[in-house]
Amino acid sequence: MATKKTKPAVKKETKCKKTNCKPNPLGAKTKSYIAMEDRFGAHNYHPLPVVLKKGKGIYVWDVEGKKYFDFLSAYSAVNQGHCHPRIVKALKDQTNQLCLTSRAFYNEAFCEYEKFMHSYFGYDKVLPMNTGAEGVETALKLARRWGVAKKGIANDKVKIICCEGNFHGRTVTVITMSDDPSSYADYGPLTPGFIRIPYNDPKALEKALEKYGKEVAAFIAEPIQGEAGVFVPDDGYLKKCFDLCHKHNVLFIADEVQTGIARTGKMLCSQHDGIRPDIVILGKALGGGVLPVSACLADDDIMLNVKPGEHGSTFGGFPLAARVAVEALKVVKDEKLVQNAEKMGKIFRKEIEKINSPFIVQVRGRGLLNAIVTKPVEGKTAWDICLKLRDNGLLAKPTHDHIIRFAPPLCINKEELMEAIAIIKKTFEQMFGEYIQVLQA
Ligand SMILES: Cc1ncc(COP(=O)(O)O)c(C=O)c1O
Repeated sequence: MATKKTKPAVKKETKCKKTNCKPNPLGAKTKSYIAMEDRFGAHNYHPLPVVLKKGKGIYVWDVEGKKYFDFLSAYSAVNQGHCHPRIVKALKDQTNQLCLTSRAFYNEAFCEYEKFMHSYFGYDKVLPMNTGAEGVETALKLARRWGVAKKGIANDKVKIICCEGNFHGRTVTVITMSDDPSSYADYGPLTPGFIRIPYNDPKALEKALEKYGKEVAAFIAEPIQGEAGVFVPDDGYLKKCFDLCHKHNVLFIADEVQTGIARTGKMLCSQHDGIRPDIVILGKALGGGVLPVSACLADDDIMLNVKPGEHGSTFGGFPLAARVAVEALKVVKDEKLVQNAEKMGKIFRKEIEKINSPFIVQVRGRGLLNAIVTKPVEGKTAWDICLKLRDNGLLAKPTHDHIIRFAPPLCINKEELMEAIAIIKKTFEQMFGEYIQVLQA
């Protein structure tokens, strides 16, 4: 009797259905994993076709065994480098001790973490969450509550001012702040109470505060807009906004999820402008590239308006996260990552600015959060440049189609950085060579 042939679980597909692009010209393993994700995973990302298996410091390896410089660092969540031995040890030690309690009880690791965060960042209190978006939600709730309890705004009238071009995460309330349709479109009714103004425009904030100030609880901004393409505002912008906020009794919230924890050459990016935000949101590198850990920092006047039972998260502040975050922050200081990010960032921009390529429009950034703004030439885009970078042994990802972010782990040294820069230079030379060939054809 003929048996019915069952379909193989993974089809040998070489094209991503969503983008119709060829996922990988490389090995069979890579193709097979990409086909697996294409078939069984939601299509909510468009990864560069490379399948990673191992990481150490500034490097990652793919399933074929090829080694790459990691110049994305999980969107700045791996500032301390992949699998940092001290952070991994802290994780393992705590795993053998106690992993999860929830906040129904006190736990030793979390109490110590709270005290540590106070001494590290100088805020009265920390409110722990897990992801960056949760940290942002928490900051918005703290600000709204403060607006009602302390500023006396009617509960249904509280407003928050946010910026054009922002990226604060993916929850429904957070995408309400976005002006990018790929973030907010067709997700049904959004959250009321936001006013959006241009970024890097203190006058726009002044105008909004003059018009709505009495009902505004907070202004939220990224000190550098990371997802927007590493958009660095003018020097003094944050300070001007901070002063305007205080003039109008409005809280200044700094979303430092991407820019915080040494990434831009200061522990917090807001320090470049010499300000101490009323609420700081941290995430990404707070988890040392090991766990999702986020937090809001604020003083008692803001923090203590939220009473027991009024906000929380099962995993927020769990013992593993608490131990990992403490170690992750200690590593940042012990290894002088703030200073290194500042120094290496200057070298990076100086060297990249020397590249003469029709593809490059601008090089910008601060510390080790940098971007090359590209323009398409003969149909070749930032995506093609990233594919070639990958082939040459360096991983980076375009944001907004034409901007390539370069954000290596902050432990990179000068020799390694120069090697990576040589790859970037070679890549642009190859792109240029192909362009010349097209012109001559
Ligand atoms: C500035 C900023 N805020 C918030 C988030 C959201 O963080 P998560 O993806 O951990 O929710 C991001 C993520 O890229 C971010 O860059």
